Amino acid sequence: MGKGCKKVYITTPIYYVNDVPHIGHAYTTVIADALAIYSRMAGLDTFFLTGTDEHGQKIEQAAKQRGKTPQEYADEISSKFKNLWDYFDITYDKFIRTTDDYHKIGVQKAFEKMYEKGDIYKGTYKGHYCISCETFFTDTQIVDGELCPDCGKVTSIVEEESYFFKLSKYQDKLLQWYKENEKCILPKTRRNEVMRFVEGGLEDLSITRTSFDWGVKLPDSVNDPKHVMYVWLDALMNYITALGYGTTEDKMDYWPARVHLIGKDILRFHAIYWPAFLMSLELPLPKHIAAHGWWTRNGEKMSKSKGNVINPKEVADAYGLENFRYFMLREVPFGGDGDFSQKALMDRINSDLGNDLGNLLNRLIGMSGKYNEGKVSSKNTAKYYQAELDEVNASMEKLEPLLFEMQIHRYLEELWKPLSVANKAIDKYQPWNLMKEGKIEEALALNGLIANILAKVAIMLHPVMPKTTQKIATSLGFEINFESYEKLFKEQGLLKDFTIEKIPPLFPRIEEKLLKEPEAPKPEPKAKEDKKEETGGVITIDQFFQTELKIGTIVEAEEVPKSKKLLKLKVDLGEEKPRQIIAGIKEWYSPESLVGTQACVVANLKPAKLMGMLSEGMLLAAKDENGLSLLRPENPKKAGTKVS
Ligand code: MSP
Repeated sequence: MGKGCKKVYITTPIYYVNDVPHIGHAYTTVIADALAIYSRMAGLDTFFLTGTDEHGQKIEQAAKQRGKTPQEYADEISSKFKNLWDYFDITYDKFIRTTDDYHKIGVQKAFEKMYEKGDIYKGTYKGHYCISCETFFTDTQIVDGELCPDCGKVTSIVEEESYFFKLSKYQDKLLQWYKENEKCILPKTRRNEVMRFVEGGLEDLSITRTSFDWGVKLPDSVNDPKHVMYVWLDALMNYITALGYGTTEDKMDYWPARVHLIGKDILRFHAIYWPAFLMSLELPLPKHIAAHGWWTRNGEKMSKSKGNVINPKEVADAYGLENFRYFMLREVPFGGDGDFSQKALMDRINSDLGNDLGNLLNRLIGMSGKYNEGKVSSKNTAKYYQAELDEVNASMEKLEPLLFEMQIHRYLEELWKPLSVANKAIDKYQPWNLMKEGKIEEALALNGLIANILAKVAIMLHPVMPKTTQKIATSLGFEINFESYEKLFKEQGLLKDFTIEKIPPLFPRIEEKLLKEPEAPKPEPKAKEDKKEETGGVITIDQFFQTELKIGTIVEAEEVPKSKKLLKLKVDLGEEKPRQIIAGIKEWYSPESLVGTQACVVANLKPAKLMGMLSEGMLLAAKDENGLSLLRPENPKKAGTKVS
């Protein structure tokens, strides 16, 4: 593929400005950056877009809470994202803000086109709206009558005049697209999920709001000033307005996107709404929509209240920016959820980077200095080590497709195989003995082999660790660019002779955690067995009272459809509203027999979801061979009375 012959357009989601950047944002952006660096190095005409999503009720509210106008607030947070990406050496070509004028004009043009086509009509929207997710939900989707099925927060009921997009009209065309393009959604399992969802039927989508005004106005031609656009319509359009859609059109030849990188939580918007909008606009559809999983910290979901949100800059400062970039891409299989722990990060740095890569370079510096005044030649490498070269080239050939299909962890895994070939070759051929035995040509050819392996690995690792690999290349007498990529990777060529430049170790060993850990979460109760071992089964009174037991009055009870065991109860604990408790007692109690009775409830259990329903407590019961009985007070007690 020659320089400039193919256009590659890569995007990240545009990030909401209601919060500061965290590891999830850094992850998507670093993947996109690696792809962009790779595709530029491979001579492809590349355009890499990122930016911020600045409209909507959530931003309006966040600004208000801080006593700022939405624009002031958006300016402040948007620049935090920009600064972070500068710090992360992100090579984006454009940073879009949805408050930019050209974007707003482009979105209005798109609305106008869809409207004129008859794909937009006016009606009334009635349903639930989750401000946190900026998403509409139907009665059947909502949990417990009011909770958002995605984030669990309380939704608000909305009834307002709205314009609708005829999403239902595109159901069949969407299904056809998924079927005909096996890799349109990656990983493939996600494509199946989306297909099942669409097969279940699509409802038309409400795309304007009237109850607030921090959004893009409708085009003048529609003449309905009280409406602003739904933030997701506005946001998704960024992928084309950034290329000049509806204004200059100057970069529209980059469209369609090669890949939209996103997190799994925003797949529905990208894999259903976005292609439908594009169909309506008569534009081609993206090649891949690639959804990655979620990061947790030490196995726990990150949240501000737990104080365990990972600040990417802090990690990069402590452990080295490029080490962190490598860790994020290597640690997690793309699409799966990943866990951040300092131990895992240290292991990757010490083992993969330090032992496998860094030490290999140090050994080469040492051996070439000792045997040949630092001079390294590839002259006889193929003569003695063709088998090793073949093995390396076989791994190299697998790399490119892995990268463009988002198998980045596998890409890096495969890239480490040549390093292992080199390290094994040193152990096997023992160049110090070859030298002793006078087999000097063979020993020097082995240095040539190691240098070439390091050079090829440095080139292919360059998208992930741009500066570190450039240092390796300098030490090996070359520069990483399109020419060296073509020669050493594409054509499987070898390095010109050079004198190695000594450089300090690239990955000094890290022995201790470099960041303060968030306060340890309360330990999970240990399994009965080990507790017995430690304490003989005895607990202190304080330990007992960590469990909050209360008397609850069951005010409602119903069967859970399709469940043999579960009942859904509403239990009054003397609080503002009754709690929903999902209890596995259906075999022993009918719903009717429970209403009005009381039971003993564990009131401070972490809420959990059972069959998709929130359960906010647990009933105490005793079970033997004759069945199960709920534990109840002998005489009725006020709802919420503490059990002690
Ligand atoms: N503004 C929308 C995207 C519009 S794109 C047209 C949005 N923004 S966001 O800031 O909330 O999220 C941006 C991305 O960060 C999403 O892809 C989301 O999956 C990702 N992450 C947020 N938290 C995350 C983790 N804990 N782990 C990994 N990524 C996560 O959604």
